[in-house]
Amino acid sequence: MTTANPDLAALIRTIPDFPKPGIQFRDITTLLLDARGFHASIERLAASAPTDIDLIAGIEARGFIFSSAMATHVGKGLVLIRKDGKLPGATIGVDYALEYGTDRVVMHEDACVPGQKVLLVDDLIATGGTALAAVRLLRQAGAEVVGASFVIDLPDLGGAEKLRAEGVPVTTLVSFEGD
Ligand code: PRP
Ligand code: MG
Repeated sequence: MTTANPDLAALIRTIPDFPKPGIQFRDITTLLLDARGFHASIERLAASAPTDIDLIAGIEARGFIFSSAMATHVGKGLVLIRKDGKLPGATIGVDYALEYGTDRVVMHEDACVPGQKVLLVDDLIATGGTALAAVRLLRQAGAEVVGASFVIDLPDLGGAEKLRAEGVPVTTLVSFEGD
């Protein structure tokens, strides 16, 4: 396997057959346990992302870890994109397809001022379904999605390419492919 940032890749544990047979689960908990690795991942995400931004947006749940660290690192506020039913104020939402069934992401309808430049952050992009739904949601709120940053890319699943085809510049730190 060749990837950028091999030091970070080495800190991400692979759990075979989770949550079901045949899936290689890329486990960021081991990266988070390593203070230098966690810090380096935030520094490198910030260094590779657009700098002309107004807000960071993070996707529940694992995306909150990296997006909140990014927000404090770059000195910007944080928009929470959540699973449905968790936010107390008036929300807007986007449904998206899963392998079986659908899911829904929501955000507070007044979280963005129209025209604000938003950087989307999540831990991992696989099929891109979650991130594409988040992009559509932010656009519905009037935001301009100027980039999307992920620690892990699974390029075999094509999500990053789908996001780029939607006009969103994508940066990732570590790629796992071919298994
Ligand atoms: C995982 C991961 C990404 C998403 C990527 O979240 O954290 O958010 O899947 O998959 P996709 O590109 O195919 O949409 P998940 O909802 O499984 O769990 P989490 O709540 O722990 O983040
Ligand atoms: Mg997630």
